[in-house]
Order: sequence, then C-alpha cells, then structure tokens
Amino acid sequence: METPVWVKHEKMKKWVAEMAALTKPDRVHWCDGSDGEYAAICEEMVEAGTFIRLNQEKRPNSFLVRSDPADVARVEDRTFICSKTKVDAGPTNNWMDPKAMKAILNRLFDGCMRGRTLYVIPFCMGPLGSPISKFGVEITDSGYVVANMRIMTRMGRQVVEAMNSDADFVPCMHSVGVPLENGQKDVPWPCDKDHKYIVHFPEERAIWSYGSGYGGNALLGKKCFALRIASVMARDHGWLAEHMLILGVESPEGEKTYVTAAFPSACGKTNFAMLIPPGSFDGWKVTTVGDDIAWIKPADDGTLRAINPEAGYFGVAPGTSEKSNPNAMASIRANTIFTNCAMTPDGDVWWEGMTKEAPAGLIDWQGRPWTPDSKTPAAHPNARFTAPAGQNPAIDPRWQDPAGVPIKAFVFGGRRSTMMPLVYQSFNWTYGVYLAATMGSETTAAAQSAVGLVRRDPFAMLPFCGYHMGAYFNYWLRFGRNIENTPRIFGVNWFRTDKDGNFLWPGFGENIRVLKWIVERANNHAKAIESPIGWMPRYQDLSWKGLEDFPESRFKELMAVDRDQWMAELLSHEELFMKLYDRLPKELVFTKELTLSALWSAPEHWEFSRGKLEPTED
Ligand code: OXD
Ligand code: MN
Repeated sequence: METPVWVKHEKMKKWVAEMAALTKPDRVHWCDGSDGEYAAICEEMVEAGTFIRLNQEKRPNSFLVRSDPADVARVEDRTFICSKTKVDAGPTNNWMDPKAMKAILNRLFDGCMRGRTLYVIPFCMGPLGSPISKFGVEITDSGYVVANMRIMTRMGRQVVEAMNSDADFVPCMHSVGVPLENGQKDVPWPCDKDHKYIVHFPEERAIWSYGSGYGGNALLGKKCFALRIASVMARDHGWLAEHMLILGVESPEGEKTYVTAAFPSACGKTNFAMLIPPGSFDGWKVTTVGDDIAWIKPADDGTLRAINPEAGYFGVAPGTSEKSNPNAMASIRANTIFTNCAMTPDGDVWWEGMTKEAPAGLIDWQGRPWTPDSKTPAAHPNARFTAPAGQNPAIDPRWQDPAGVPIKAFVFGGRRSTMMPLVYQSFNWTYGVYLAATMGSETTAAAQSAVGLVRRDPFAMLPFCGYHMGAYFNYWLRFGRNIENTPRIFGVNWFRTDKDGNFLWPGFGENIRVLKWIVERANNHAKAIESPIGWMPRYQDLSWKGLEDFPESRFKELMAVDRDQWMAELLSHEELFMKLYDRLPKELVFTKELTLSALWSAPEHWEFSRGKLEPTED
C-alpha cells in the first residue's frame, strides 16, 4: 500500500519506512480507523480462524478469540525499563543496558514480519484536541491488535490529521514474532513461545514489544505508553500518569464531585468505577470517566484536571455479572471482542461468575467441551472483554471533555482481611503519599500464587512505574507542594473479615456509603474523628438508610486500629523502604515514626467507644 495522501508527517513516514525495511513484511497497511476497515479486518480474522463470530442476535457485531495457552497475560518478568542507568529503573523493574537490548531487538525484529501485513496504527491517548492528550503510532503485524486498538483508543485518519506534519508521537513497535516463510500456513494465535520482550526506553520515549499478542503486552497504548512511558513524561513535565479509575459522584442536590481511585488487580476496580447505589440512595448517582488509567494535570484555575486516556474497557470477564456489575454487562452487549471466554452452544459467551449455574454444552477457552465436572475453569481467569466506553450506561457526560474533570479526592485501596479500616482520610498530603506508597493487597487464588500473602503494591503502580519507585514517591511529594488545593487522600478496604473469615462489609453498591463520606469530606461538609492513623467517620457520620440493621458494633470492628497489628504492618513497610533506600524520601521515614508514636499514645486497641479523641468539624 502506498502511503495515503492524508499522511503529511514526514517523521512518521520515515520511521514507518525504516521499520518496514527492518521487519520485511509482504504488505504495509495504514489504518484509517473507518467502520469499513474494522469490519474487513474482523472478517479476515474470521476466515483465518482467529475470530469466531458470535450469535448476531445475542451479541451483535461481537467476536470470540482464543489465544495460545502460552500467551494469556502480561509477562512482568519479561518487561524491561531500559533507562540509561540501572539505578534510574530502580529495584522494582527489570533493566538491561539500552545498547545491549537494542542489539537483541534488532536481531529479533529483522525479517520478523515476513509473509505478514505491517499495520500502522496512528492513535491518540485522550480526547482529540485535549491539552493533556498524547499521540502514539503503533506498528504491529497482528490484526487482533488493530481491532482492539480501534476500541481502546482514538485511531486512524482523524488522528493523523490532528497531528499535522510535526506533532510528537511515541513510536510503539510490536510483532508477534512469527514470520511466515515461503507460504507457510498461519496459526490462529501466532506468538513466540520462547522469546518475549516488552521493552521501554524511557529517555527516548520508545516502546518495543516482541513475541506476545495478548493485552498489555501488545496493546501498547495502555500499560506501556499510558503508564510506564507516561509516568516518566509526567515526572519531567509536572503532571501525573496513574493506574487509577476516575468516577463522578452526584448528590441529590446536584453537587458533582470527581474522584480517582487506585486498587491493585483483583480488588474490583471496574465494579467500583461503575458502582450503582442501592435504591435507598435515591438521587445519588455514580458516573464513569475511566476504569483503569488517569492522566492528571494542574490547570490554570488551580484545580487538578484528569482525563481517561483510553476509549474502551479491557476488563477481566470472570466474576462480572448482572449482580456484580450491571453496567459492565450492558457495556459488552454488542461490538465487543471477547478473549479466552467460554462459548455456549448458541454462540454466546460465558465465564465463571456470570450466572450461578453454567449453561449446558459449553466449549472452554481452549475449544474443548466443558462440564461443571471439568478440572479446569471454562473461561481463563484472565479472560477479557474489549468494549467501547461509550456503551457504558453510566458513562459520565464529560468523559471526553478535552479540559478534563476536576479531581477532589484520591482513593487508595487494597484487599486486607485484617487491620486496615473500611475508610480513613490521611492527615495531610505527606501522610497520604505514605498511605499510597505502603499500600498492599493480599494475593487471591486468581493470582495463582500463595493465597493470603500481602504484596506491597505502591500506588498500584508496581508493574507500571517507568522509573525508580523511591524517586516516584519523591515526585508525588514535590507535586503536592506546587498545588494550591491538593485533593484529599483516603484509604479504603472493602475486604476486612471477622474472626471466622466472613466479610464485615457488604461491598458493591453499598460502597456508596463510604464514597458519600469521602466526597463530603473533600467538600468540607462531613465530620470526622482523629484516629492514630488519620481522620475517620464515626458510625453516625455515615448514612445507614436502607442498611439500618448494620450493627454499630460491627462498624467498630471494621474501623478498629490495633496497635500490635499496625506495628507488624509498619515493620513490613520498613522492608519496602530498605529496598528503595537509595531514592527514598526522608519524609516517609519520619511519617512512619510519627505513626508509631501516635499508635503508642492511643489505646492499644483503638476504637471509638474508648477513644479519648474528640470529633472534629474541620
Ligand atoms: C489491567 C491490569 O489489566 O492492571 O488493567 O493488570
Ligand atoms: Mn489496570
């Protein structure tokens, strides 16, 4: 294919020509992003056996894809931050010298697209025309990637035209790494089983990904660009690129407050982003701006403005149901790509948790007949849906506002069965950075590792920060010093259990009770009491309408701060701090000391009934 006339960007053309010379594809296809192009690429993949067209009545314009069982998730151990020095990547990232890495990549990419089409995907992270948005160009030899990028980003001709002849872009190079020599027949899901490299060059702002076609390894706008590379851009230019959902909360009086929230995986992030308040919260409305990533910039009016750089949801399917998340179910009713889900006999999809009982006659994610007696799950635990964000019935009217939405609160949460209260507000920005830096989550069976271990996941950014995690904490501290009205910072935990292991909190839609207190605190309307670790609501500070039988004693159990448990927790924070020692800001060391002294000046098992501390009305 000739370069289309609408491409006026010489640097882009030159880069594409260089990459084509290196990878030696049979054809080059510049994506225009049109409906016709999407339909043609999907049809080609149906013919190739990669896509299965689902029942047109049940899932219009939707497809099921089964990946190679060796390519089902992000590969963190094959993900590299190749900054000039190892210390800049820090101890939480894999690193290799950029020159040595380039030598490997040049060898792997040489001729890797033989027999295939090289697709050029010009894309924009964020609404076109937003001062917060950024351009990228992904080169890929995977039609699956093209179809997914069409849903997940703004892409094609409109983007090239917005870039004019000279806009900066992040070059994103991707190959599945399986050249087809001499007419060799393709497989439905090509990938290189032995060599996978997901590589970031932060100083150069470039991404090279080889060997995998799955999710974050291959849709390079998402984790690679919007988090790893963008976190470095943000540090250099005074903004934030965070692993956070963005939601709007509207009170019955019409007061709208936007909040972001960061949770490690397996904590119900998408459910929270699409929360539906219970009937008793008549008049309260939650709307979604984004479900995974937030780019946040200080605006001239002193507010912090956030955009969702993505245009779709790449959500985990298992566990999603009409009960747990009706908005997600509505979002995937049509125009959706399902990956590694099970298929029903009538051509629809199914996964564990969608319905109580599995339909009869299922085909599992590897194409094998499946019954409830089968030893393996019908859908892969990391099965995904890719759906346009605009199909979410709770989409926020301003989700594409180029100016972004003003953020009043940052929420951080993890999965903790003990010690961490349902909700608390940090005393100030520094305490808030401490709270986020030390957040952790207990591993679940879905993570396929030892269950119940606490994995520290600072800011939920552990696999996504493009530089030294200690320097990132420091950047957050510095960032707060330059903001007029810093958003309030909160910690939440939906997962605390009683001594028999039962969840103390009902979660899901009931989380609106906590969210209401958070937005009221952020707007200086709600009361709180001082605990050793931060401000907390008393029982009477939350609304119990529709949940009047929730006992106050249970609330106290949910909120209690136990000195022994917290001392053990602080010790384990120390472990993280030692790992990050060479760039760790001293503020965090002192905050730990201050927290310890607060724990010793409060009763051993702090709860409101024994609290000598007075409620505040600040
Ligand atoms: C995701 C993740 O896929 O965080 O969003 O792993
Ligand atoms: Mn994520």
